[in-house]
Amino acid sequence: MSNDTLTITDNRTGQTYEIPVTHDTINAMDLRQIKVNPDDFGMLSYDPGFKNTASTKSAITYIDGGKGILRYRGYPIEQLAGKSNFLEVAYLVMFGELPTEDQYQKWSYDILHHTFLHENIKQLMDAFRHDAHPMGMFIATVAALSTYYPEARNIFNEKDRMKQIVRLIAKVPTIAAFSYRHSRGLPYVYPDNDLSYAGNFLSMLDKMTQVKYTPKPELEKALDVLFTLHVDHEQNCGTATMRVIGSSNTDPYSAMAGAAAALYGPLHGGANEAVLRMLMEIGDVKNVPAFVKGVKSRERLLMGFGHRVYKNYDPRARIIKKIADEVFEITGRNALLDIALELERIALEDDFFVQRSLYPNVDFYSGIIYQAMGFPVAMFPVLFAIPRTVGWLAQWIELLNDKEQKIARPRQIFLGEDERDYVPMSVR
Ligand code: SDX
Repeated sequence: MSNDTLTITDNRTGQTYEIPVTHDTINAMDLRQIKVNPDDFGMLSYDPGFKNTASTKSAITYIDGGKGILRYRGYPIEQLAGKSNFLEVAYLVMFGELPTEDQYQKWSYDILHHTFLHENIKQLMDAFRHDAHPMGMFIATVAALSTYYPEARNIFNEKDRMKQIVRLIAKVPTIAAFSYRHSRGLPYVYPDNDLSYAGNFLSMLDKMTQVKYTPKPELEKALDVLFTLHVDHEQNCGTATMRVIGSSNTDPYSAMAGAAAALYGPLHGGANEAVLRMLMEIGDVKNVPAFVKGVKSRERLLMGFGHRVYKNYDPRARIIKKIADEVFEITGRNALLDIALELERIALEDDFFVQRSLYPNVDFYSGIIYQAMGFPVAMFPVLFAIPRTVGWLAQWIELLNDKEQKIARPRQIFLGEDERDYVPMSVR
């Protein structure tokens, strides 16, 4: 008998079972043989929030939460943020290897020349209220794109599939910029395909009457690094949603609209917006101790802190904090940064946070930089969704190619009423 097994004794029956162990994991279906009566359904595992459940095998992103390690396809995030750029990292995450010069040139050309949206999309955008949240506009527009490209439903046709992947990565900055311009009552700015991915995005956001927009190189670079840091993060809530929706074989636009909707939540990608609102509510460094007291008495969460996987400093937060200094060189120091630094100082010393391994996560400092760069707070989750489009699509491809995957359909523990007969209204 191989040692790579668990021996489980069911004390209800005295029966023992040998359950194989691979990758330090058991296959949940192997529990189903554990029964009291032969016609029982068999044993399930119960795991709300999937805290201890692997839903897939993956080769894309590796995280060691205890050591604060994050690698895309084996490359440490610190090296990619320092030496690569968003489009090259997008290629790496999508295809598994760093591109050659020719591969990179073709990939960049394809992405930077599919940035336009169908003109109809402008009417769709115009239908939103002036104060519509840009993330709501983003989600709706991504879903709407599925109606422009019906061939996207041919998800097992590699050529059609790759066309949609290029379109989505290329168009999400345009969708984001259009939703921003709509919220400001400004005319939409068409993409400028001569600019970089981040530079074109800045142009579509800020261009006014100038013939050619020239982005500030430092801000363009900072945004490119921020995009790189947000590309993928293994089976987070938004990506797990992409996989669940994708498992029904729907098109990538519809699946990604769902993933973006999950990201929008303040416990997930919406946390960067929630962090800024929290800092603005605190208002002054002198109010930090009272605020922390409220967190410790469970009146509220310290947004931008804590993580399901990282029980150490989120490596992305460390890099973003460094970028903050570079951005503030240009934009001027931000008073909210002082409040954030004081919150971090207290949290890293205070037992309440230390005992719960609550460290700053990726959202804690990103919002401060975005605000310093002039983005309205409501745009922050959209800035997260743009680069995460690459991770969602890479994970979606991995799902489609994984022969072990099936349509997602969890089980439940039923605690409701037993069978009972209908009671006429007259006797209720
Ligand atoms: C992202 O999963 C990913 O990879 C996500 C992400 C990605 O790249 O996709 O990394 C991006 O979503 C980052 C997280 C952004 N969210 C926030 O900053 C919101 C604030 N954080 C919390 O809501 C919370 O930390 C979560 C949701 C991030 C994680 O929650 P868990 O893992 O379910 O942990 P938990 O809620 O069970 O908390 C454990 C304990 C609890 O205390 P006890 O009941 O044990 O006494 O820690 C406490 C919680 O009350 N706690 C917090 C806290 N986070 C957890 N207390 C105060 N403030 C917090 N932020």
